[in-house]
Parts: sequence; structure tokens; C-alpha cells
Amino acid sequence: MPKSGYDNTLSAMRTLLAVAAVMSVALTAAPQPPGKPTVTRTPTQIDVDGKRIEVFTLTNAAGVEVTAMTYGAIILSWKTPDRTGKSTDIVLGFEDPARYLKGDSPYFGAIVGRYGNRIGGARFVLDGKPYALAANDGPNHLHGGKRGFDKVIWDGEPVKDSRGVSVAFTRTSPDGEEGYPGALTMRVTYTLTPKNELIVDYLATTDKPTVVNLTQHSYFNLAGDGDILGHELRINADRYTPVDKTLIPTGELAPVEGTPFDFRKPMRIGARVASEHPQMQFGRGYDHNWVLARAGAGLSVAAELYEPSSGRSLQVSTTEPGLQFYSGNFLDGTLTGKGNRVYKHRNGLCLETQHFPDSPNKASFPTTVLRPGEKYRTQTVFVTGVR
Ligand code: GLA
Repeated sequence: MPKSGYDNTLSAMRTLLAVAAVMSVALTAAPQPPGKPTVTRTPTQIDVDGKRIEVFTLTNAAGVEVTAMTYGAIILSWKTPDRTGKSTDIVLGFEDPARYLKGDSPYFGAIVGRYGNRIGGARFVLDGKPYALAANDGPNHLHGGKRGFDKVIWDGEPVKDSRGVSVAFTRTSPDGEEGYPGALTMRVTYTLTPKNELIVDYLATTDKPTVVNLTQHSYFNLAGDGDILGHELRINADRYTPVDKTLIPTGELAPVEGTPFDFRKPMRIGARVASEHPQMQFGRGYDHNWVLARAGAGLSVAAELYEPSSGRSLQVSTTEPGLQFYSGNFLDGTLTGKGNRVYKHRNGLCLETQHFPDSPNKASFPTTVLRPGEKYRTQTVFVTGVR
């Protein structure tokens, strides 16, 4: 059938749009007038599984810059101004993308999955069928196993987004990868908005019943250096999930009242980090999941972090039911990161929005099961600012 004028116009428009999309990506690589939001795409010289690692840089008019790469969908840097306007990188990690391939990064900046956090005994039963996973954290399974989503290459693409500048990372985790059932097709998008939000959108579908719990594992330091004990933290939670000595939840939802876990009002992290509370001994500090207080479904504030010396603040909102606050207890000075900084004990902290640890083995916890035909869709929004 001959093409109508309408079809021809449409196809011409599509070509124009495609050219414009390519040009805008290419053009933004050139120096931009200050204030223009940009997304740039830079290939590295490093290949993983036959794919080149690419680095994407998002900038907004307010001087925030976030870089992320296709390996592990890792956020490499996140530069924000302090209260005097001086810009600093507020996340831990390595300068050289190749450095992450060594495999000893404690999940710096990565997307963690297929199951973020722990699954007790490294096994679960789904629809009556047992599944065995790698025990890579004592007797338990942690952060997706030996080669989780932080250690694989994703595809990356700048995307048009009315909310800001965006990069989307996509990947299909094959059926059986790290022992999990079902091919899981994922899309994780980072969008930097003019209001200094970094919106993380997670989308996944599966072809067989499986369990999914994806999170972002950035280590923040709002001073840019030193320890995080002077940071003030508020967590919007009345309860947390106490753990056994291997950090698997007991199943109880315990009140935070009267414990070092009470962050309902902003508290210095250092104030109670050395507490004798038995739970603090298990975690060697804070390494626990809080049950977020929320009025119904949807996005709700999970935590607020503030650093008095720099004036920087970070607010975290999420659609998830839980938040793992990890105070960087396992950082021990053995890793040297950006700017030759040695990452010592508690030099960074993680605020990992998530479903509760070990949910596949805890019928009373919100479910992490995803079935064919369903959509896994969660959102977490980080807002940086100054006070
Ligand atoms: C999470 C865990 C911690 C630790 C870090 C990575 O936050 O809960 O126990 O494994 O990741 O070192």
C-alpha cells in the first residue's frame, strides 16, 4: 500500500526527532553556557562481557552533577554545593571505572539485586519449590550473591524526561542467575531535576515467579571527608526489625522508643553509635532496617540527613516500606578511593530504601514476590540542599 502523506510526514518527523535526540546528546558534550541542564555520554576503554562501559553525566542549572556508569549502574560521583557554594563530591567510590572490576568494592554507589540485603540461610521456598543461593555473608545470602547486579554490565541510554535530565539503565537477568528463578527484565532510571532531586525509578518484570528487592547503595558523606558521626539523621519510623547475630531479622517489629534506633527527632549519628544495646553489637553499629511510617501507599519521606559544618542536607523519600541505615561499620581503611582518600571506619553511610531483609522467608513481612504479568515499580527520591 502506498504511504499516505500523513505517514510520510510522521516518518520524516520520527527521523528528525531521532537526529535531534542524537544531536542533543552529542552537543551537550561541548562546553555549555552555565545553567543549562545537560546529559553527556562518554565511552571508556573498558569492556565487560563484550560490552563497553559507558559513563553518563547529568548536570542541572543549580550546579549539581551526578555521574553514573553502565557497570553496576554505579553512581560514580555526586557533586553538590555547600552553604558557601563550594562544590564537593558527597559519595564514596573510585575515580577510575576500571577499579570497580577488582571486585572488592563494598557496593559503592551500585544498584543492588536481585535481592538487596540478606536472605537467611541463603535459601527460600517459593510456591513450594526450594531455591538455593550463594552463602556470601556467613551462612546468609547478601546483595544478590557472588556476582550481583553491582558486578554486571547494563545498557545505558539518555532518555527524554519532562522532569529533568535522565539516564536509563536496562538489563535482563537470565533465568537461574545466582540461583534466582525467572528472567528478570529491568529498567533503572536516574533523573536529575532542576530542584536538585535525583529520582530513581525502578521497573521490572519476570517470566516466572521470583523475588525482587532492588536498592541504591551510595555511601554518603555530606562533609565530603572524615567520618559521618557528626551528621544529624532523622528517620521517619516508630519501629525497626531487630536481627539475630548474623543480621537476619527475627520477624519482630520492635518499637524504637527508648533505644539507639529512635531517630524520630534528628540525632547525631555519633551520639549512640557506641551503645551497649545488644542490637548495636550485632551490627557493630547501625546496620538495621527501619519500618517506615507512612500514610498509605506512594512516596513518603523516609529520612533526612544534615551535616552542620558544610550545611548540606539530604532528604530521602520512597515508595518502599523499609530503610536500611548502615553506618559504614565495615569500612576499615583498606580501600583508597577518590582523591587518594583512605576510607576509614564510618567515613560514609548508606540509606538503602528497600523491602525488609529476609522477606522471602518471613510470611508476615510485605511480600517481595513478583509474578509474570505483574510490574515491579518502586521509586526513591534523593533531594540535596543546604541549610
Ligand atoms: C549493607 C549491609 C551491610 C554491609 C554493606 C556492604 O548495608 O547491610 O551489612 O554488607 O551493605 O558492606
